[in-house]
Amino acid sequence: AFYTKVDQETCISCGACGEIAPDIFAYDEEGISFSLLDRNEGAVEVPEDLADNLEDACEECPTDSIMLAEQPFAKHAKKGQ
Ligand code: F3S
Repeated sequence: AFYTKVDQETCISCGACGEIAPDIFAYDEEGISFSLLDRNEGAVEVPEDLADNLEDACEECPTDSIMLAEQPFAKHAKKGQ
């Protein structure tokens, strides 16, 4: 199982992730990406059939802002904590 969320501190709104994985990523009013699955909490499992798209998006993100984990991300956790 995979969980994902976007590091919104480093996302530069390049737009690749939403192009590649529109069922997972969308953009806020500033163009910063977030996970649609659970408003970027990273706590909802990525559906199996979207896993390939997710991996592609990860690879294409120029700032490596798409975080992937096999465990749910802790609620409201910030990177580095
Ligand atoms: Fe941002 Fe990377 Fe997507 S820079 S818009 S998270 S591909």
